[in-house]
Order: sequence, then structure tokens, then C-alpha cells
Amino acid sequence: MKSITIAIDGYSSCGKSTLAKALAKELGFTYIDSGAMYRAVSLYIKRSKIPIDELSSKEVKEILADVQIEFKWNRETMLSETFLNGENVENEIRGKEVSDSVSKIAQNKNIRTILVERQREMSKGRGVVMDGRDIGTKVFPKAEVKIFMTAEPAIRAERRYSELKAKGDTITLEEVIENIRLRDYNDSTRKENPLRKAEDAIEIDNSFIGQEEQLGMVLKIVHEKI
Ligand code: DC
Repeated sequence: MKSITIAIDGYSSCGKSTLAKALAKELGFTYIDSGAMYRAVSLYIKRSKIPIDELSSKEVKEILADVQIEFKWNRETMLSETFLNGENVENEIRGKEVSDSVSKIAQNKNIRTILVERQREMSKGRGVVMDGRDIGTKVFPKAEVKIFMTAEPAIRAERRYSELKAKGDTITLEEVIENIRLRDYNDSTRKENPLRKAEDAIEIDNSFIGQEEQLGMVLKIVHEKI
């Protein structure tokens, strides 16, 4: 299989990462969760109480030089986990506190510039599936395959709610709906690299299609492209 780049963008809780992971596994490619990178930076800033919006680009660069983000494969859970400066933060970055603060961090131009550079660097010379909000428009405008995913907001909220409940989170459905609504708004209206469909992206609304069917559709697109 030729090494290509597959960019998957879309709204929160659309099942982007489920599709991206399945695709990467099927194709033997590396999966990179760009949202986890914004979440890890958000956690670091929250813990260190840095007033990031008041800092110059040089200062932000210096601070982020101390923020190492890695993805490691967990053989037991068969999942990729996010590490922040050597600490496994996979659970913490998915919790409510980080979910509530991350879109503000993702609006910061200086942080975005650095993370986009890192995303390109991590992908050099390999077949990659990366999911996020600006992958097909900004990170890899020349990606061979671009997918833009959508699903109805009520369906996305139900899916996210079930996921969090299964993890033992005490969040209510109303809180999940509000969090998704706010993130959609912030992601699509921010000045820096807002969420939008790349002109050459293929849109998939997965409100009423299952994961297997969706994977089959995208694999067909990938095989047609290469
Ligand atoms: O995909 P996610 O929900 O884990 O993303 C977390 C946040 O980061 C979300 O508010 C959108 C933002 N994000 C972004 O702005 N650009 C990306 N490439 C990925 C995520």
C-alpha cells in the first residue's frame, strides 16, 4: 500500500476518531489524533495556570518547548494513549474540565501554529490518518484523501453521553448537549483555522449509518484514489 495522507475533519463527536483508527488499522497507517494534542496542551496550561492569552508568540513557543506530547500503543486495551511529558493523561484529557476549556486553547493562534508544525513533522514519510478540524484545509491541504464528517447534533450528543456514562462520568445529557453546541460554535466561528469543509473533501453524514458501512465507504474512496 502506497503511503498517503488521509485527512478526516468534522464536528465534535461525529465518530471521526473511530473511523480514523479503523482506517489506520486496516491500511497499516499511523493514526494521529490532533484533538488530543490540543487537549494535552489545554491540560498543561490549566495545571500550570499560565495566562496564555497574555503571552507573546515567543513566550508561547518557549512554554510549548516544555510540552512533549506522544501517542503510545497500549497492548492490553489495544488503544493508542496520549502522554504529556511522559505521563499517561488519556483519561484526564477526555474529562469535562478539559473538554470545557480546550476550545479556548484551540483558538490561540500561537498554539495552533506550533501544533500544526508538529502534526506535519509527526507525519513525515509515513502513511497517516489524522483527524481534527483543519487537517484537510490547513495541516495537509494536499492530502490525497479528505473526508468531512457530519451527524445530527442530537445523535452526536447521545453517542457522546453513552461513551462518558460507560466510563463512569456523572455528566448529564443536557451538559453534553451544551458542551457540543458550544464547541461546534467555537470551532466553526473562530478566526484561526476554523472548521470548514475543504473544497475537495467528501462529505459523509453518518447519522444513520453504522461503523462497518462507513469504513467500507471510505476504504472504497481510498482504493479509488491510489
Ligand atoms: O476532536 P476533539 O474533540 O478531541 O478536539 C478537542 C478540541 O480541539 C475541540 O475544541 C476542537 C479542537 N481542535 C482543533 O481546533 N483543531 C484540530 N485539528 C483538532 C481539534
